[in-house]
Amino acid sequence: MKTILITGAGRRLGKTLAEHYWSLGWRVLAHYNSQCELPDDPRIVRLQADLSDPLAVQALCLQLAGLGPVDAVIHNASCFVPDSAVGAAELGDHVTRHYQVHVSAPVQITAALDNQWTTTASMVVMSDIYAEIPNQRFSVYCASKAALQNWALSMAQRLAGRVRVNVIQPGPVQFLPEHSEEYRQRVLSQSLIRRELGYGAIVQACDFLLAADAMTGTVMRVDGGRFVANRYDQTFNV
Ligand SMILES: NC(=O)c1ccc[n+]([C@@H]2O[C@H](COP(=O)([O-])OP(=O)(O)OC[C@H]3O[C@@H](n4cnc5c(N)ncnc54)[C@H](OP(=O)(O)O)[C@@H]3O)[C@@H](O)[C@H]2O)c1
Repeated sequence: MKTILITGAGRRLGKTLAEHYWSLGWRVLAHYNSQCELPDDPRIVRLQADLSDPLAVQALCLQLAGLGPVDAVIHNASCFVPDSAVGAAELGDHVTRHYQVHVSAPVQITAALDNQWTTTASMVVMSDIYAEIPNQRFSVYCASKAALQNWALSMAQRLAGRVRVNVIQPGPVQFLPEHSEEYRQRVLSQSLIRRELGYGAIVQACDFLLAADAMTGTVMRVDGGRFVANRYDQTFNV
């Protein structure tokens, strides 16, 4: 039986990924933070940790050491807070929190698994197209996702021959309930396929990358063409 560790597996995309691999017969090490909506099952091992807390990450790493060989990891957990949500006095904590969740935790978890990878192991890191596009509202989120992505490519080098490491950059996968209809339409008008991708698009990409034994060090956009959509009007001819 194969084993996959998925961080942020309690809700939304992480939960969908966890259910998918569980339904394929994998044992799922399901890390979650506040809430785990996965069913109770012997093949689902729940691991609670606030990844913004270095001590909690250490404790999680110790737990992982006792859970045997690992075939795949998806670093999916994410902190998505606009800069405007915090005042000047909390800005340092805001930065630290994003870097803890997006960089420190994946770094520590990956190091902790060093002796547990199976011979065909693979790791997928969930970044964002905004790792490469400036966004003044979410500058700290974007910067920390860029750091995550760069680290992942270093891991593709370091773990070469042992673990394949690839990055997915999702575009607008699934809107949040608080997103207004106007917001949704504006975002979708900036993509090429002009519809919400749905979690299935990312599941498909993970399936592909976990199986594609010639692929490592790849950054794959699954964004409905939003990255290459015409962000600036280039159609004028003067
Ligand atoms: N949804 C999209 O359209 C979209 C677009 C681009 C990129 N992505 C990327 O795709 C991935 C999944 O997207 P999503 O929308 O499902 O993400 P999400 O809901 O924002 O977060 C994913 C998970 O991370 C967990 N998390 C947040 N803070 C944490 C902390 N301090 N410690 C541990 N876990 C924490 C959340 O658990 P709690 O809620 O319990 O804290 C949640 O289950 C993320 O990496 C995201 O950046 C998504």
